[in-house]
Amino acid sequence: MIDQGDRTVKEGPEIRSAEGRLGVLLPGMGAVATTTIAGVLLARKGLATPIGSLTQMNTIRLGQRTENRTPLIKDFIGLAGLDDLVFGGWDPIPDNAYESAVNAGVLAAKHLDPIRDELSAIAPMSAAFDKEYVTRLDGPNTKSGANKREIAEAIREDIRTFKADNGCDRLVMVWCGSTEIFLRPGPTHETVESFESAMEQNDPSIAPSMLYAYAALMEGVPYANGAPNLSADFPAFEDYAKANGIPIAGKDFKTGQTLMKTILAPGFKARMLGINGWFSTNILGNRDGAVLDDPASFKTKEESKLGVIDHILQPELYPELYGDIYHKVRINYYPPRGDDKEGWDNIDIFGWLGYKMQIKVDFLCKDSILAAPIVLDLALFMDLAGRAGLGGIQEWLSFYFKSPQCAPGLYPEHDLFIQNWKLKNTLRWLAGEEQITHLGREYYE
Ligand SMILES: NC(=O)c1ccc[n+]([C@@H]2O[C@H](COP(=O)([O-])OP(=O)(O)OC[C@H]3O[C@@H](n4cnc5c(N)ncnc54)[C@H](O)[C@@H]3O)[C@@H](O)[C@H]2O)c1
Repeated sequence: MIDQGDRTVKEGPEIRSAEGRLGVLLPGMGAVATTTIAGVLLARKGLATPIGSLTQMNTIRLGQRTENRTPLIKDFIGLAGLDDLVFGGWDPIPDNAYESAVNAGVLAAKHLDPIRDELSAIAPMSAAFDKEYVTRLDGPNTKSGANKREIAEAIREDIRTFKADNGCDRLVMVWCGSTEIFLRPGPTHETVESFESAMEQNDPSIAPSMLYAYAALMEGVPYANGAPNLSADFPAFEDYAKANGIPIAGKDFKTGQTLMKTILAPGFKARMLGINGWFSTNILGNRDGAVLDDPASFKTKEESKLGVIDHILQPELYPELYGDIYHKVRINYYPPRGDDKEGWDNIDIFGWLGYKMQIKVDFLCKDSILAAPIVLDLALFMDLAGRAGLGGIQEWLSFYFKSPQCAPGLYPEHDLFIQNWKLKNTLRWLAGEEQITHLGREYYE
C-alpha cells in the first residue's frame, strides 16, 4: 500500500523502465501500417501532431477535482518515447513503406516527401502468406517451408534478427494485415501442443495470422490483433500468454462506423430510448475494401461488427426497448473512393408512448487516419503491459477494438465511455493512484 497524504492507495505492480528502443513489428504493411509509421516519423521531426492518440495527447485526472493534477498520460505512466520506436513488418507485396504509402493513397506528398528516405528504408520481410485465407490478394514476397511449423519458426528467426540488428530492448507486434476468411476455434486451438502438431500437419484450421501470433508469443513479444481474424483469441494462446506474462489483445481496430455506434448507442440507452432498426452500409475502395469484397473475409468482419449493438443495449434486460432490433451491416467495394470511406447509418428509434423518430449519420471518414493512432497507442500500451508483467488478455485495451477479447464467460464491454474509464482506471492502478468513481460526495460534505 502507498500512503498518499490522507489517502491509502493500493500499490500497482512493479513496472520495468521504458528506456531503450522498442521495436514495433507490423505484419501487413498496407494503408494502416504505413499511415502509422509516417505519422510517427513526422511527429518526431515536429512536422505533425499525433491527433487521435491518447498516449501522446490525452491527460489523466488524478485524485480529487480540487487538486488540479492532470498530467499527460505519457508523462504520468512512463511510456516508450516516439524517438525510441523502430518499425519493421512483413508483407507478401514487396513494396517498401514509401511505395506502399503512395499506393495506399492516404497521405499527400507534402507528408510523404519529408520522410521519403526513412520510409523507403523499411522493406517488408517475406510474409507467411497463403492465398486460401485471403483470396483477393497475392504477392511474391512469401516464405516457403515443409509445413506451417517451419514457417512459424522462420518468423521467430525474423523477430530475433530484427531485434538484434536494430538494437531493440523490447518488441511488440500489432497485426495490420488483411482480414482472413472466417474460422472458428476448434480442437487444434485448445493447447499449444495441439496447435504445434496441427502446424506440422498443415492443418487448414491454422491461418497465417496465427503463425505470427504464435511466433510472437514464443519470443515473449506482446501481440495485438487489429483485424477481426481468429488469430490469438483461443485457449491455446490465451492460456500460454497468461502463464508466461505476455500481453495479448484484440480484435479489429475500432474506427469508422463502429466507433460511431459505440458512441451513439450508449447515449440512446442512457436515455432509455428504444431502437427497432439500425441499418449500416459502407462504400470504400482501398485494398481492404477489395479483400472484404470476398464473402468469406466479409463474414469475419460482419461477425465482428454485429456484436456491438447487442452487447451495449442488453435486449435481455430491456426487451421492450431493444428486444426487436433489426441490425444490418453492409460493406461495398467501390474503387473510386479509395481510402475515403463513406459510412451511412439509418437508426429507427422510438420515444415516449412509442412515437417513432429517425437519425441519419453520414460519416465521410478516412479509415487509416482513424486507425493509425490506435496502432501507436496499442504498441505503447502493450509494451507497458509487458513491462508490468500483465500476461494474457488485456481487456483494459477494449477501447481500441470492435470486438474486444475478454475472459471466457464474460461478455465484452463495447461502450466507448466505459472502455475509456476502464483504461484510465487501469493506468491509475498501474501507477498506484486512487481509482476515480465520480461519486464526489466529499465536495458537498
Ligand atoms: N483502416 C481501418 O480503419 C481498419 C479498421 C479495423 C480493422 N482494420 C483492419 O486492418 C487491416 C489492415 O487494413 P489496411 O487498410 O491497412 O489494409 P491493406 O489492404 O492496405 O493492408 C493490409 C496488408 O496486409 C498484407 N497481408 C495480407 N496477408 C498478410 C500476411 N499473411 N502476412 C503479412 N502481410 C499480409 C497485404 O498484402 C496488405 O498489404 C485489415 O485487416 C483491416 O480489416 C482496418
